[in-house]
Amino acid sequence: MTARILDGNALSAKLRGELAEKAAALTARGTQPCLAVILVGGDPASAVYVRNKVAGCEKAGIKSLKFEYPQDASPADVLGKIAELNADPAVHGILVQLPLPKHFDEKSVLEAISIQKDVDGFHAENVGRLSQGQEAFVPCTPNGVMEMLKSENVSLRGAEAVVIGRSNIVGKPMAMLLTAAGATVTVCHSGTRDLNFHTRRADILVAAIGKPKFVTGDMVMPGAVVIDVGINRLPDGKLCGDVDFESAKEVAGLITPVPGGVGPMTITMLLANTVESAQRSAQKT
Ligand code: GUN
Repeated sequence: MTARILDGNALSAKLRGELAEKAAALTARGTQPCLAVILVGGDPASAVYVRNKVAGCEKAGIKSLKFEYPQDASPADVLGKIAELNADPAVHGILVQLPLPKHFDEKSVLEAISIQKDVDGFHAENVGRLSQGQEAFVPCTPNGVMEMLKSENVSLRGAEAVVIGRSNIVGKPMAMLLTAAGATVTVCHSGTRDLNFHTRRADILVAAIGKPKFVTGDMVMPGAVVIDVGINRLPDGKLCGDVDFESAKEVAGLITPVPGGVGPMTITMLLANTVESAQRSAQKT
C-alpha cells in the first residue's frame, strides 16, 4: 500500500490565511506585527531561508525588517543591533539566522535576544521553559511538525516516537514536544548502536539528520507516520529530504514530502510566533 501524503503546503496555506486575519486585526488596532531578521555572512542557503521568511511576512501582513552583515562583521555590531531591537516596542520578533560565522559565539548572540521577542525559541530560558511545560516560544520546525500531526489526528498518547537527530533546533525540542504529548520517545543519533532496531518499531519516525535519503523503506514499520525534516541539495540541484521517499512511501501509512512538507510549516510557525508576540504586546498597552 502506498502512504498518504501529508501536504505541508496545503496546511500552511490554511494556517497562514488565519494568521493574516489575526495580523490585520492587530494592525487595525494599532499594532502591526513586526519581525526583525538578522543575516550575517553570505551562506547561500541562509539567504534563501531569509528571503522566504521575509516574503512569508509580507504575504501575511506582518512587517519585516532585514539587517544584513558581511561575513567579517564584528559580533559587537550585531549585539548592538539586537539591543536596539530589544528596546524597540514596535518590534515583536527577533531572529538571527544560523549558522553564524565561526568567530561568533552563537550562544551569547542567541541569549542577547529578549525572551519576549525570541520567536525562534532558541534562548536557553525559552528552552528551559519548554522542557518544564511552561509557556514559551516553541522552535518553529518541531512546532510545525506537531501541527502537522494534529491536522491528521495522529494519536500521540502511548505512541512509540523515534527522532533521529539531537540538534538544538530540531531533535531535542521535537523530543520534548512529543514527550509532553504523551508519546514514548527515543532520540537516536550518530552514536546509536542499532538504528534500524529503533526505527522499525516507531509509530512515528522523525528524520532530522541532514543526510540525503538516509532513511530507507526497510527501516520503516508498516503503516508508520514518517516525518522528513531534512532539506538537502543533490548534485543535480534538486532538493531531497533525509528520507528515501520512493521506498519509504511503499511502507509508511502517512509521509511528508520534500519539498512541500515540513519546510513551509517552519516559516508558518515563525509567523505564528510573531503574531502571538504582537498580541501579547498589544494586551500590555
Ligand atoms: N538555521 C536553520 N534553521 C533555522 C531556524 O529555524 N532559525 C534560524 N534562526 N536559523 C536557522
